[in-house]
Amino acid sequence: MCGIVGLVSTQPVARDLISGLGQLEYRGYDSAGIALAGPGFVVRKVIGCATDLAAALRLDETAGRAGIAHTRWATHGKPEERNAHPHVYQGVAVVHNGIIENHAMLRERLVESGHVFLSDTDSEVVPHLIAEARARGAAHLDAVQQAVEWLHGAYAIAVLFADKPDHIFVAKYGSPVLIGARSGVVAVASDTIALAGLCLRYTALEDGDLAVLTPDSVRILDSFGKTASRTWELVMDREQAAELDRFEHHTRREIAEQPVALRNTDALLRGKPLPDGIAAAQRLIFVACGSSLYAAATARVWIEKLTGLPCDIEIASEYRYREAPIQAGSVAVLVSQSGETADSLACLPLFRARGVPVVGVVNVTQSTIARASDLVWPTTAGRELGVAATKSFTAQLVALLRLGVAFSQARDCDPAVRAQVVAGLTAAPMICAETEEMEPALAELAHWIAGENEALFIGRAAGAAIAGEAALKLKELSYIRAEAYAAGELKHGPIALIRQGSPVLVFAGTDALVGKTVSNAEEVRARGANVVAFTDADGASAFAGVAETVMALPGRGVGHMFAQVVALQLLAYHAALALGRNVDRPRNLAKSVTVE
Ligand code: F6R
Repeated sequence: MCGIVGLVSTQPVARDLISGLGQLEYRGYDSAGIALAGPGFVVRKVIGCATDLAAALRLDETAGRAGIAHTRWATHGKPEERNAHPHVYQGVAVVHNGIIENHAMLRERLVESGHVFLSDTDSEVVPHLIAEARARGAAHLDAVQQAVEWLHGAYAIAVLFADKPDHIFVAKYGSPVLIGARSGVVAVASDTIALAGLCLRYTALEDGDLAVLTPDSVRILDSFGKTASRTWELVMDREQAAELDRFEHHTRREIAEQPVALRNTDALLRGKPLPDGIAAAQRLIFVACGSSLYAAATARVWIEKLTGLPCDIEIASEYRYREAPIQAGSVAVLVSQSGETADSLACLPLFRARGVPVVGVVNVTQSTIARASDLVWPTTAGRELGVAATKSFTAQLVALLRLGVAFSQARDCDPAVRAQVVAGLTAAPMICAETEEMEPALAELAHWIAGENEALFIGRAAGAAIAGEAALKLKELSYIRAEAYAAGELKHGPIALIRQGSPVLVFAGTDALVGKTVSNAEEVRARGANVVAFTDADGASAFAGVAETVMALPGRGVGHMFAQVVALQLLAYHAALALGRNVDRPRNLAKSVTVE
């Protein structure tokens, strides 16, 4: 993961660099660092975030007109100051996003020739390789180029030389990196969020590119060493400063923003046609990670009903290596809030190679997945600052169901199913708002689960996927051990977990399967479980006498799924509060997972 940003300007850059770095903290926030040059050469690193870094810099250290900075999510080496970037060797400072897979071999070779390493990171080999090339007499750019030729893996690298303080050098392979510019300022950053407010236009580097930045020029060399001309795009203005308003946490504010996020997403996609090449799909392959994967799994149930198309749900990190046969006529749907998730991104070339069109369901429309997709099918949830997906998840559900409706129309499928789904989507914003009003009861349940320190979530069909999202959310926000199972699978093993008082939380709407789900609830209850049912008004009577607690949530059918999601989010949020967790920044996580 990690975020990198660099600026070379006619003015001191420290303040803007740290502000840009702050925007990248969703990519990792265990440590941060900065190198500034011209005049002087200053390097500072801290355990903590951009504001801690700002506090660590003395005023007389901030005159540099070129600088690179980094916010870290540890891959190799603990979050310690010596492992924070920039890594510096003989006046070469480097920030790196990605993973250098052959770092151990490189380190060994360098150590043998007398290099001394200070960190446990894979990244530290890079300044050593550059310094080694410089010592052999290579010019600055050549030294960077010779160094990256050694690297296997993924990298976005920015390099600052103490003896060339008006230049930044950039190299890219596998990890995304952008170059931004405005008059007198040139920047490099992991994404446009860090560039907003600093630059007016940006271009994305391609694999194998090298770039040389000065305050008034950008030179990009492609993988053949030829000067490349690239298209520049406008950097979107920075979104309004993310205010917490009346909320204690971004996560809670984002839960409350769902009605607006859903309405906006639905309005944007309503009636949006599918291009012919995509409308002709014979099979849909959904590829995603984490919550985005559960959003696809939840929506699949209805998309299959809507379209009659077989839908595969694929874990990106598995799919990229599985060598799965891809049938002609398939369409791939990459689902990703950030549009930068490394594993999801890595599946793109597989589809390209087989001529399979790619639809990108992304929230960040200036992202790598968006740029590489044949069709962008966006969510408009707005920027999500809490690390846990909340409003982006429900916005993905809307977008995916709208995609199903569009396929249903293109294929002339049953209009009654379409009408049912559209009615659910129209009702969803109000249903979310109504569910939020049940917060006190959900908080009470959360306190009980926090005390038990475990939870089993079950459901069938969409309810099984929602159970998966519930377990994920509870784990990541509260660190409580939580499991999710398709209710019918319980008796094949997991029912052994049930003891007297085990919390079992059931997601069931009144569909054809409710009776079956009630039976599964009976089975765990008979073994001592304390059952909570999240269901609709009719389901409430089906669960009466089976569940200790029945949460009768608003809505029916498609609309009701949104109520279940809001309920699970509030449950996880309050469990985290009860245990004193850092809700917006859970331990070990980052918002955007740009390493595999
Ligand atoms: C969970 C969460 C993660 C992400 C996953 C994919 O709350 O946020 O599981 O859903 O890392 O990220 P995107 O959607 O950006 O590809």
